[in-house]
Amino acid sequence: MGKGFFIRKTVGIVGIVLAAGAIATIIALSVVYSQEKSKNNENEVKPTGAVTTPVPTTEPSNEPWDQWRLPQTLSPQTYNVTLWPRLQPDATGLYIFRGLSSVVFRCVEKTNLILIHSNKLNMTLQPTLTALGSKPAPIIESIVMHTKTQYMAIHLKEELTAGESYELYTEFVGELADDLGGFYRSEYYENGVKKVVATTQMQATDARKAFPCFDEPAMKAVFHITLYHDPATVALSNGVMFNVSFWLSDEVNITVDDTFVTRTTFAPTEVMSTYLLAFIVSDFGFIEQNIDKLQIRIFARQEAINAGQGEYALSVTGTILKFFEDYYNVPYPLPKSDQIALPDFNAGAMENWGLITYRETALLYDEEISSNGNKERIVTIIAHELAHQWFGNLVTIRWWNDLWLNEGFASYVEYLGADKAEPTWNIKDLIVLNDVHRVFAIDALASSHPLSSKEEEIQRPEQISEVFDTISYSKGASVLRMLSDFLTETVFTQGLQTYLDHFKFNNTVYTDLWEHLQRAVDSSSSTPPRSVQDIMDRWVLQMGFPVVTINTETGQITQEHFLLDPETKPDRPSEFNYEWFVPISWTKKEAAQPLYWLLQKTMDQMKISGDEWVLANINVTGYYRVNYDNENWERLLNVLQTSRQSIPVINRAQIIDDAFNLAKAGIIETTLALRTTLFLASETEYMPWESALDNLDYFYLMFDRTEVYGPMQTYVGNKVEGLFDYFTRLTNWENLPPGHTDQYNQVNALRVACSTGNENCTTLVKTWFEQWMENPNVNPIKANLRSAVYCSAIAAGGEKEWNFAWEMFEKATVASEKDKLRAAMACASEPWLLNRYLKYTLDSNKIRKQDATSTIISIASNVVGQPLAWDFVRANWEYIFKQYGGGSFSFSNLINGITKRFSTEFELQQLIQFRDDNAHIGFGSGNLAIQQSIERTTANIKWVKNNQETVLEWFINPL
Ligand SMILES: *[C@@H]1O[C@H](CO)[C@@H](O)[C@H](O)[C@H]1NC(C)=O
Ligand SMILES: *[C@@H]1O[C@H](CO)[C@@H](O)[C@H](O)[C@H]1NC(C)=O
Ligand SMILES: *[C@@H]1O[C@H](CO)[C@@H](O)[C@H](O)[C@H]1NC(C)=O
Ligand SMILES: *[C@@H]1O[C@H](CO)[C@@H](O)[C@H](O)[C@H]1NC(C)=O
Ligand SMILES: [Zn+2]
Repeated sequence: MGKGFFIRKTVGIVGIVLAAGAIATIIALSVVYSQEKSKNNENEVKPTGAVTTPVPTTEPSNEPWDQWRLPQTLSPQTYNVTLWPRLQPDATGLYIFRGLSSVVFRCVEKTNLILIHSNKLNMTLQPTLTALGSKPAPIIESIVMHTKTQYMAIHLKEELTAGESYELYTEFVGELADDLGGFYRSEYYENGVKKVVATTQMQATDARKAFPCFDEPAMKAVFHITLYHDPATVALSNGVMFNVSFWLSDEVNITVDDTFVTRTTFAPTEVMSTYLLAFIVSDFGFIEQNIDKLQIRIFARQEAINAGQGEYALSVTGTILKFFEDYYNVPYPLPKSDQIALPDFNAGAMENWGLITYRETALLYDEEISSNGNKERIVTIIAHELAHQWFGNLVTIRWWNDLWLNEGFASYVEYLGADKAEPTWNIKDLIVLNDVHRVFAIDALASSHPLSSKEEEIQRPEQISEVFDTISYSKGASVLRMLSDFLTETVFTQGLQTYLDHFKFNNTVYTDLWEHLQRAVDSSSSTPPRSVQDIMDRWVLQMGFPVVTINTETGQITQEHFLLDPETKPDRPSEFNYEWFVPISWTKKEAAQPLYWLLQKTMDQMKISGDEWVLANINVTGYYRVNYDNENWERLLNVLQTSRQSIPVINRAQIIDDAFNLAKAGIIETTLALRTTLFLASETEYMPWESALDNLDYFYLMFDRTEVYGPMQTYVGNKVEGLFDYFTRLTNWENLPPGHTDQYNQVNALRVACSTGNENCTTLVKTWFEQWMENPNVNPIKANLRSAVYCSAIAAGGEKEWNFAWEMFEKATVASEKDKLRAAMACASEPWLLNRYLKYTLDSNKIRKQDATSTIISIASNVVGQPLAWDFVRANWEYIFKQYGGGSFSFSNLINGITKRFSTEFELQQLIQFRDDNAHIGFGSGNLAIQQSIERTTANIKWVKNNQETVLEWFINPL
């Protein structure tokens, strides 16, 4: 290796480095891999140099290379990175990439140590250091690779001089593994031919797996990227492609190491963070559109592009980009916007600056085959990633402890962007179901955590992975939406705009945003009762949220930390004693009242008289739950039954969700919560139905193995009958209902009617599926209904139906269709089918790695599959953990998913046993999830014990 790499004739990158810089100081040295992790204290010595200098292995732990954060001594300015991914395996069967990189950095504080991140890269040449100023560069004494902290430590004989710039040059080789992190490979088949894509996922800490770099978000620099690749492929990166290679009077097609390759050079990036870099080599196709001078392109497998699957994404991107330009009042910072769908991708999407990567299901849409849910996912994820192009990429958080601001913000404004592209959908309402209600369930646990963490608490890569959780995304979105609402959108956007302008190409902490919002408040007529910082500290620095209780008789209004299990105590103290400044929007019998601020634990001013009903937290803009005195609950139940239209549709969903959760926490009677579902008999709107079904789902989880099951099925079946008939009349199951959310509710009607045994429903579904099995080339099932139909048919069927679904799964060329079949196969009722399916999840030729955990979770949500999935995961934990990356955030989903049904003492013991048995392997980013599962199971046990009787009686006689 090493020698000769990339050097052709007289022109090579090394030659350029020598010509550009001062005299290079190449010395003999050794590269030593310190084996901090391994038990035998043996050093692996890589003798790339003439002299081998042994380096002591037992380092004191306060050495800089044992710290997880870089010292502030050096500051990177520019990188030149050239990478050559090999899309065919080498002689030993390994897929590799080769690279060379030079980084120019400034010395901020004198030091004789260069610490730079490098993970799983093998140096193929001795790194060299060049001084760019007048003084010569110090001589390199030794180089040590620290595998645990992922550094290359370069020890110098003398010190670097503060204020001077230096250039470090490295050549290396890395594995292009199928591990979904850093520079990795994705594989797929097209017309029977295996294709390989080289692609990247850097966030959070994997740029160091592609080339040596100062891999922290505040270490921004300019990147010059060059990719070598087969002439039949296309190379993409953050910058625009240079068509002419102007800096080398050389052709673009060259011969390197006897291989004919194309060299693609990209325009230098803006000043940016390493985690936002992307490099991709593929033979994908694309479609494009130019808006003003901006080039917008969508890339995907050629087959998908030819089938038009990129058209929808292309059609909404321009609109959304224009919307954000207005919203931020900053032009889109780059000359192009590429978006690409990858067959293997761990997250949903990644906002790499100018080259956004997606899972196929998050970008590709097929008019005939994809559902409206698929479409909504695409438009919201696109909006989310485009929002980051400014908020996150142009202005970046200083460290990962503030991730919630980055992700919470994008998760909020994705609704605004999507609404611009699909203005008839009322999509902004759905944040209440998708984010607010969803995160309430987690944030009500004593083991929750505050949005903001201290910088020192988030250090190691797996700690960083762990902050990519529902709290950061959904609670972040919820509290920012609340803030925007009480400041008014005008004031909020004004503060946001000056913040972006002031910090562009720079890094911030979250309080920088508060400061700019405060300035906007001060120059407006908006008058929140406390400063932005004072109000927000209470939502950001303490975990959880309040339940506000309004007593309409006394006028008293109080707040209390809402905990699902009232017997638990929050794991951590709060300097604010779990009190909040709560903005309360409210209505008194349809007459909207001025915003009311609850600034203490108890206040007395909310006077109501007579039989007026009161409703608070209008449209759930506030991040809190509401409870009332019994009389007001009765009045609300009455309004729901008699004139539900006087309550906004979002609040009809809220009343159900609040009531069910208050009941779970023992604050109101369970029967009162159940009574909030009585009005559903005449309700046809999606949000209340979805809210009820989500909450009843918990009852199914707890009771579907008990005697409660039968009466509960009867009750739910009766309620859904009206809805099923409504959609039968409206659509005859042939047509689409007009509204976006009506289309969702049509699916609910079918799914629930079938699962409660409605014969009209089961006959319909059976007929459709049989028709399809008879003629596999023509699928007669409407796109929106497929998930529900497939699941019902496979649940009712046996091996024949399952195998048919598997065959269709393997054949499908639209990723969202594959996903529907993959989820539906988990609905099977025969244990052996489910066990066989579980085995498939660990075979990446059958189920892609990116889909393994979600498939196991689907199987676990089936009552038959749950114990099978639990046994399977326990038996295979070590393998799953190692193969499927304990660092990836799907691990917390996996643990929460397979344990959510747990409600017996026996299951709790098993869970504790599992935790203890695997302590030596660990749970990676699932650590917190294990704790939460134990807490949830404990709460479930108590809840079932206290409620089973009552619930059974109520379902038998629902009043
Ligand atoms: C990096 O590459 C650019 C051209 O892409 C060149 O102008 C510059 O001199 C190079 N810098 C170094 C330090 O090699
Ligand atoms: C890097 O070196 C290690 C240890 O010699 C070896 O196992 C690994 O395969 C090498 N990686 C590549 C991509 O050559
Ligand atoms: C490089 O080679 C490819 C394939 O042979 C060819 O299509 C392309 O035009 C060549 N480019 C240049 C600049 O010569
Ligand atoms: C970035 O912001 C800091 C203050 O937060 C400031 O000191 C620094 O000069 C800024 N850097 C640039 C490049 O604007
Ligand atoms: Zn994001």
